[in-house]
Parts: sequence; C-alpha cells; structure tokens
Amino acid sequence: MSWYINAVFYELYLRAFNDSDGDGHGDFTGLRQKLDYLQWLGVDCIWLLPIYPSPLRDDGYDISSFFGIYPTFGFLEDFRMTVQEIHRRDMRIIADLVVNHTSDQHPWFIEARSNKNSPMRDFYVWSDNNERYKDARIIFLDTEVSNWAYDDRTEEFYWHRFYSSQPDLNYDNPGVRQEMINIIKFWMDMGIDGFRVDAVPYLFEREGTSCENLPETHNYLKEMRRFVDLNYPNSVLLGEANQWPSDLRPYFGDSDEFHMCFHFPVMPRLYMALAKGDRTPVVDILAETPEIPDNAQWATFLRNHDELTLEMVTEEDRQFMWDYYASDQRYRLNLGIRRRLAPLMGNDRRKIELLNSLLFTLPGAPVLYYGDEIGMGDDITQPDRNGVRTPMQWSGEANGGFSSAPVDRLYAPAINDPEYGYRSVNVAAQQGDPDSLLHTIRNMIQTRKRLPVLARARLQWLEDLPTNLLCFWRRDDDQTVLALHNLGGEAFTYTLPEGERFRDALDPDEAVGKTVTLPAYSYRWLQQVMD
Ligand code: BGC
Repeated sequence: MSWYINAVFYELYLRAFNDSDGDGHGDFTGLRQKLDYLQWLGVDCIWLLPIYPSPLRDDGYDISSFFGIYPTFGFLEDFRMTVQEIHRRDMRIIADLVVNHTSDQHPWFIEARSNKNSPMRDFYVWSDNNERYKDARIIFLDTEVSNWAYDDRTEEFYWHRFYSSQPDLNYDNPGVRQEMINIIKFWMDMGIDGFRVDAVPYLFEREGTSCENLPETHNYLKEMRRFVDLNYPNSVLLGEANQWPSDLRPYFGDSDEFHMCFHFPVMPRLYMALAKGDRTPVVDILAETPEIPDNAQWATFLRNHDELTLEMVTEEDRQFMWDYYASDQRYRLNLGIRRRLAPLMGNDRRKIELLNSLLFTLPGAPVLYYGDEIGMGDDITQPDRNGVRTPMQWSGEANGGFSSAPVDRLYAPAINDPEYGYRSVNVAAQQGDPDSLLHTIRNMIQTRKRLPVLARARLQWLEDLPTNLLCFWRRDDDQTVLALHNLGGEAFTYTLPEGERFRDALDPDEAVGKTVTLPAYSYRWLQQVMD
C-alpha cells in the first residue's frame, strides 16, 4: 500500500508556526524546533503552505519567484535541512505548488507587460477586450468584478481567476508547461515527497466553456504525473480541485493523474449533518462519490487555511449553513465562512471531537489544520482569511510562545481573548493534561494508524437507526471496525450484533458489553475481536 493511503497529513503555515529569531514571522529554524512535537502528535506528512518569495497579496499564493524562499523564512539551505530533519523522524513533507498563476510582481509578468512584443508576453493570457470567456465564474466574489484586468501600459486586458494581482499563466504556451516541470524538478530534487497542487481546474481557457476541468487541463496534469512517476516514484501529487464528485473523479484519471484529491463536497456536509442532527447529507454525498483507482486516495479535512467553502452545496444548503454557522455577517467571505473549527462548534468539546472522529473513521486520509488539534480560535478583526491564520499557541507566555518580538512586530497578533487566547488554549498546557483535546486527537491519530482498515476499506452504513445516528462498518480481510456517532442531543443505546465481540479501539481499558450507550454528540470506535 502506498504510504499516502494510510497517512495523516498536517497542514502548516510556516509564518504562523514558530519564530526562532524574533522578527515576528515563523521560519524554518522555528519549524525544526517543533518537529519533535509533530512527531509526538503522530502525523505522517507535513503540507507546507507556500514558502516562496511573494508580495503577500494572497499570503504567498502570489509567487514572485518559484525558485527561492521568502526572506524571513530562511535560506534554501534551511529548507533542505528541514526536509532532512523531517525525514530523519520518519515523517514526510509536501509543498504547495501554485500552477495556475504568478504574482504580478513575478519577472515574467513584469517583462510581459513591459511591451507587447516581449517574448514573455505569451506566458500570460491577453485580450484587447474583456468579453472573452464570459462563462467562467468569478471565484473571489467579494473582491473581483471580472476575470479580466486592464493593463494600462500595454492597453490590453489580462486574464486572472483569482485576485487581479495574480495573472493566470497561459498553458497553451509550451514554454509555460515546461517551466512548471522545471519547478517541480527543482523542489523534488531537494528531497520533498510531493506537492499539494493549487487550483488545478483552471489551467486552460476555451470559449463557450466554464474554463474548468477542460480536457486540455487533464492532459497537462497527466504530463506532470508522468514526469513525477518517472523521476520520483513513491511521491504524491495531491490536487486541489474544488468540484462536485463527478467532476473530481477525472482528476485521478486511470492512475495517471493525481494520487490524491481533496474531497471538497463531503466537508460542508459533515457540518450540515451535525447542525441538523441528520446523517443524510453525508450518506448521500458518499453515495454519489465514485470509486477511485486502487492506489489513489481522498484527502479529507474539516478546516484549512481558506474559508470553509460552500461552493459545493446547493443555494438552499448554503443559506442554511450561513444562518447556522455564521449568523454574524462578518464571518461570511465569498461563498464561505471564515472561522476555525472550535468556534464553529461553539467551543463544545463534544462536537469538536465528534467531527474529528468522523474525519478519522470515514474513507480518506485526514488532513489536520495546524492549531485545530488544540482548539484554537479565530480573529475576526483580521482581513480576508487571515483570521484563521494566527500564530500557533505554544504556551501561556507572551505571544503564546510563538515569538519574542514585540506585539506590533508580529505578522499578526496571537489570539488573546479569555476563551480562545493563548493563556487558556496552548500546547504546553494540553500536553500536560491527559484529558485535553490535544491528547484526544493524538489518540485518534495513533489509533487510526493501527487500523489501516479505516483508510480504504468499503463502508457499510447501519441503516435501521434513527437519522441522528451516523454509524457504519469498515471491513477488510484483516480488521473490522464499527464506528458509532450520535449527531443528536439525546443519548441512544445501541445493541451490538449478537455473538460478536468488540473492544474499544480508542480506549482499550473500557469494557464493551452487549449494548453501547452513546451520550449526546458522542462517538465510539469498536474493533471486532477476531477469534
Ligand atoms: C488557495 C487559496 C488561494 C487560491 C489562489 C487556493 O485554492 O487555497 O488560499 O487564495 O488558491 O492561489
């Protein structure tokens, strides 16, 4: 079984993680100091958000040089040392690869807009009018009014799917396609284990289409995969395609495109099921989820560095989710909600654990977002998605132990309110408390790794139960797990199948009788004892 199938991923924002030199920004030395923590937690693979030089108009997703490191993070050598240290601990690392666009400060774009005859002009998509590709939606609805921006120097429009400061690359140009392969080679040669490939559906534009998921795009992604398979076997390409299940399936190809894709549609439905106390949204979306190749895997997640996206739900469900989880309008952004997991759950420990339990027991490889393992909060005063990217809270010391810099020099202040602030929510306190959320999450990670059945085995629902129970079997030839979740506010007693014996996988000391009582918002992982 390929390593990523049964891996637990940890998404890490370097700027926010640990500042070793007191300049107010996290850095590679700081990360290396915290690798023992990540190893203790038990995660298998770190996904590093963009670490490249950037004017930070989109927090590093606007890259101004693909072959370097943002100055405050350290040097390339630091990156290499960090990769080695990660591998020394038997962990892996993947980096963000931004394929769709560059920053408007990238030398390619600066040259492209210097004059119309520049050889770099064709690296981007230009037009003398802003009428082309009208059927392509606008993604950053709150900030952009068009996918075209006017360049007054050359008096033409350039194409951008995200911020206008992020011109899209022109994949019809073979030079662009080759450059991206060179970039992959450069970072893979540093020893990383793969990439999380950003915003993949939008590489090509064709008139009369939505400019998403085009055959040309799939062909190029297959070219990327061929290059990686040939030169870096045993690595992973994880695609970010925020699409419906039927559009997502082609991104796995015939084992010749992505090894993994995020399962965007299931994510909001976990929240919806909990809000409604009704398993149906989750059952339905998994029924609609197509089979994937044997050596492929879904990446599942509860939260990430972006808003909790509601693009993959109906208009009605979106309204429900907004009303329920973001009644304060300030939490709404584009088609989503800019909040972290703990505040979304009203800081109800039972619900935070319950959603994590679903993440760890449903099919897919779980991706945790830094800070959610201790229940960090968010900062609504920060613009855009920055409120969910605040400094990691290591201890009750100044700035949560993240940095020794004065507060006004931090890239963003650590959260400091009574409920979610670093004095009450931090790693040190929770490491010392065996009953903490951190220990619970760690136990889930370790237990899941002992139960590879949870990674890929088929799922079989227990259908004859009230709708507030989300219960299912995961079975393969070696292991059987019965995962029980009570999404409702009332206790329920479940009678186990006659003649079968179970042990509590999360708490082996807890006896399992003939019945199991599930208090409100609770869960159990029962492993069948094989004779
Ligand atoms: C990333 C975002 C980013 C966008 C544009 C996304 O999908 O997750 O954070 O703003 O790509 O690069």
